[in-house]
Amino acid sequence: MFKKNPKVSIIGMGYVGLPLAIKFSKFYKVKGFDLSLSRINKLKKGIDKNLEFKKKDILKKNITYSNKQKILKDTDIFIVTVPTPLKKNNKPDLYPIIQATKIIRKYLKKNNIIIYESTVYPGCTEEICLPLLTSSRKLKLNTDFFFRLLPRKN
Ligand SMILES: NC(=O)c1ccc[n+]([C@@H]2O[C@H](COP(=O)([O-])OP(=O)(O)OC[C@H]3O[C@@H](n4cnc5c(N)ncnc54)[C@H](O)[C@@H]3O)[C@@H](O)[C@H]2O)c1
Repeated sequence: MFKKNPKVSIIGMGYVGLPLAIKFSKFYKVKGFDLSLSRINKLKKGIDKNLEFKKKDILKKNITYSNKQKILKDTDIFIVTVPTPLKKNNKPDLYPIIQATKIIRKYLKKNNIIIYESTVYPGCTEEICLPLLTSSRKLKLNTDFFFRLLPRKN
C-alpha cells in the first residue's frame, strides 16, 4: 500500500517547511510549494530569508520549488507547514490551513498521506481539515485514505 519511493510535497516553504524539504530530499523527490512568488524566486536562486541554509543545500537536485499548484500532482505524502497566527481577538487564524487543505483536496489520491505540522488546537484537524478533505471528493475516509491521530503521551 505504501510506496517505496514516495513523492513528498511540502506546503509552505518557511522556517519549518524548508528544513523538512532539504532533509527529505536526501531520500525522496520533494516538491516545495509556497503561495509567495518572492519566496519561491529566492529559493530558486538558493537564498533563504532565514539565513539558515547555504545555497548548495537549497539547490539540491531532488527539490523542485514552485508557487504553481500543479506541481502537487502525483504527490504521495503531503506535509502542511503553513502559518497559524493568532488574530487580534486571540483566536487562531485558520485561513492559511484551510487554503492549503483545499489545495491538497484537488490533488488527493488513493493511499495518500497528509501530515499537518502547523500548530493547531486539539480537534482542529478532525473538525476543520478532515471535512474539507472528504467533501466533494470521490475518495472515502478509512477506505481510500486514512486519518489517524497520534496518541498523546501524558
Ligand atoms: N517555527 C518553529 O520553530 C515551529 C516549530 C513547530 C511548528 N511550527 C508551526 O509550523 C507552522 C509554520 O511556521 P513557520 O515558522 O514555518 O512559518 P513561516 O511564516 O516561516 O512560513 C510559512 C510559509 O507558508 C506560506 N504559505 C502561507 N499560506 C500558504 C498556502 N495556503 N499554501 C502554500 N504556502 C502558504 C507563506 O508564504 C510562508 O512562506 C506554524 O503553524 C508554526 O506554529 C513552527
